[in-house]
Amino acid sequence: MNSLSAEVSLQANVAFEVKSISKHFTGMKRPAVDSVSMRLKEGEIVALLGASGSGKSTLIRLICGLERCDRDSGEVHTPLGVLQAKGVLSRQIRRLRQQFAVIFQQFNLVGRLDVMTNVLMGLAGKRPVLPLMVGRFNPSDQALALDALSMVGLADQAFQRASTLSGGQQQRAAVARALLQGAKVLLADEPVASLDPESSKRVMDSMTSLCQAHGMTLLVSLHQVHVAKQYCPRIIAMREGQVLLDANQDAFDEAFLSQLYRQQPEEAL
Ligand SMILES: Nc1ncnc2c1ncn2[C@@H]1O[C@H](COP(=O)(O)OP(=O)(O)OP(=O)(O)O)[C@@H](O)[C@H]1O
Ligand SMILES: [Mg+2]
Repeated sequence: MNSLSAEVSLQANVAFEVKSISKHFTGMKRPAVDSVSMRLKEGEIVALLGASGSGKSTLIRLICGLERCDRDSGEVHTPLGVLQAKGVLSRQIRRLRQQFAVIFQQFNLVGRLDVMTNVLMGLAGKRPVLPLMVGRFNPSDQALALDALSMVGLADQAFQRASTLSGGQQQRAAVARALLQGAKVLLADEPVASLDPESSKRVMDSMTSLCQAHGMTLLVSLHQVHVAKQYCPRIIAMREGQVLLDANQDAFDEAFLSQLYRQQPEEAL
């Protein structure tokens, strides 16, 4: 724990910083994430690109402490403290995780609960858990949830069961929940992978405009290069667990992208 207690304060305006972090899963020839470093500023909107298996999801899970890094690897710094270092999660992990909201490709909501209740679950870290579990919410929280749902265009669906929403609507409800959570950083792991172009657009519009309006930082992994370029001024490209390029989106020309998605020799066999 020594490395966690000797906390290095982050520079002002930095949302989080990853320093030389690695993750090796048992049985894998190479690390899923291999000495990755990055620093995201508050309010930045950043895409994470890379072929399947390049380590995007693992990196996202490492950043919010859902996965532990290797013992001989680096650290994740947040404004409230070091979230993990050298394979050890902070003792304050619950509090530090509150800074991050995570949206996955699917299964973000509890289908049998209505949309409003799902969004109110974003308050779980801030309110006593028991009343939330039995569906007792105070009126001011309900008003907040309704506001958040309005912002993502779902006010009319507030009292519908979550399972009856379309995929895109479910993702937007997850964005509204992230807003209620009060997270400073939104980590979205392929939030539009299974959506049609129109639904993708509405989810990306909701996510980026809410982040802009609330000064939240967004790191979003995407497979669609054109979506990354449309919404994200900065793009981080991963290949075989490493950062291949971290730059302004202008740097991501055709030649680079064909290199990024080029098959590895062993995959080509
Ligand atoms: N829990 C795990 N146990 C073992 N190996 C894992 C585990 N999670 C991921 N991996 C492996 O780590 C590598 C990186 O996987 P990861 O899911 O991070 O890639 P990705 O870039 O998110 O891929 P995709 O675009 O397909 O979602 C892959 O080789 C994967 O098989
Ligand atoms: Mg993934």
